[in-house]
Amino acid sequence: MKIAILGNGGREHAIATQILKSPKLKKLYCIPGNAGTDSIAENVSLDFYNYESLLHFIKKNKIDLVIVGPEKPLVEGIVDFLSRENVKVFGPNKNVSQLEGSKIFTKKICERYNIPTAQFGVFKNADEAYKYLENANMPIVVKADGLAAGKGVYICEDLESSNKAVKEIFNGKFGLAEQVLIEEFLQGDEMSYFVLSDGKIFKRFNTAQDHKRVGEGDRGKNTGGMGAYSPSGLINAELDKKVITEIVNPTFKAIKDMGENYKGFLYVGLMIKNNNPYLIEYNVRMGDPECQTILPLLATDFLDLILSCCDETLHNQNILWEEKKSMCVVLCSNGYPDSYKKDVEIPNIKKIKNDDTFFIYHAGTEKKDNKVYATGGRVLNFVSISDNLKSSRDKVIKEIENLNWNNGFFRNDIGYKIIDK
Ligand code: AMP
Ligand code: GLY
Repeated sequence: MKIAILGNGGREHAIATQILKSPKLKKLYCIPGNAGTDSIAENVSLDFYNYESLLHFIKKNKIDLVIVGPEKPLVEGIVDFLSRENVKVFGPNKNVSQLEGSKIFTKKICERYNIPTAQFGVFKNADEAYKYLENANMPIVVKADGLAAGKGVYICEDLESSNKAVKEIFNGKFGLAEQVLIEEFLQGDEMSYFVLSDGKIFKRFNTAQDHKRVGEGDRGKNTGGMGAYSPSGLINAELDKKVITEIVNPTFKAIKDMGENYKGFLYVGLMIKNNNPYLIEYNVRMGDPECQTILPLLATDFLDLILSCCDETLHNQNILWEEKKSMCVVLCSNGYPDSYKKDVEIPNIKKIKNDDTFFIYHAGTEKKDNKVYATGGRVLNFVSISDNLKSSRDKVIKEIENLNWNNGFFRNDIGYKIIDK
């Protein structure tokens, strides 16, 4: 088969690495890809938001399957477009992608289907929101409704900062805002829980723990994710059952009631308190860096799983996992998540070798004249699998130190809640 993956992050490099293992694969394209995918597939410099040029490329090269990595094209309806053109595509359509594209859409489903989540209110203008905030308990969470590249969520400690958040949102910081979402602050530990669906049934995929704050001990600004490990230390049979019965089943019922079906990964972002799950958010794709830590543990052919979702035959698949622990640490450019230098060479990258249990997945990198340059805030994902998380983390940190890249930084403490306790 000829396959194209859309996206340029660590998630897409990890997906490409799995797809490459399949005997069914004949040719792999990454659109646009990064320096990592460039070594294992053919990168295509093409703007996939330009649907006509994407379709032209797909037809000209007789692509059999398109896998969509990031949320933005899903929310904007790329699956609907490609399906109409009879292109086989993996990912949910525009209507159901509102689960990520509109936080208020998801909250309304939670309300209607009794899904445990933070108490919330939706306000149509700033004055209504200010009035509500006057008597609200702090901390409180203020959210922009739409996609905001992980930046539209404010955790506010006092009235002043919550009012400021409301003002910024209505002033259009994240695009035109007609409503704002205000939520109760949930205490607990976060867990990323994934399911895979073919539109008829879904199956559990795996769990991971992301570390979103930039600083050690989970301090400082929110980022796209500084590292993750899998499986999550929080998961157990009782919790798993609650996630499925209280959250995932009613959500699939809501999708069915809409007259829709959901094909692809569903990322269930949870807060766990006293072994009870609360839904924080849905994402309509794999997580990044969760994907980089989960996929190396997969013992089933990934391409077969994806094809079974496209063909509504997921019931025939058994999703198997290595009984190992996986750790991913993200190497970032100094300054991230604020401004950072671009186009900085990573001179030693070729000296670090992948093997069966250690992988580097590139994120914000580009290859020029056979040299690798950092172009993004999150640059490289170092992943190791082993029998325990501490040895995986030790291996990863040793390799980051071997890289000796002085424009970067990383968190030494990924997994600290279960490794270092
Ligand atoms: P989201 O973009 O909805 O995932 O929010 C980003 C991050 O904000 C989450 O990963 C949580 O760490 C935090 N967060 C969001 N909503 C809440 C909430 N209601 N209570 C506590 N933390 C939250
Ligand atoms: N790791 C968080 C996300 O992918 O949204």
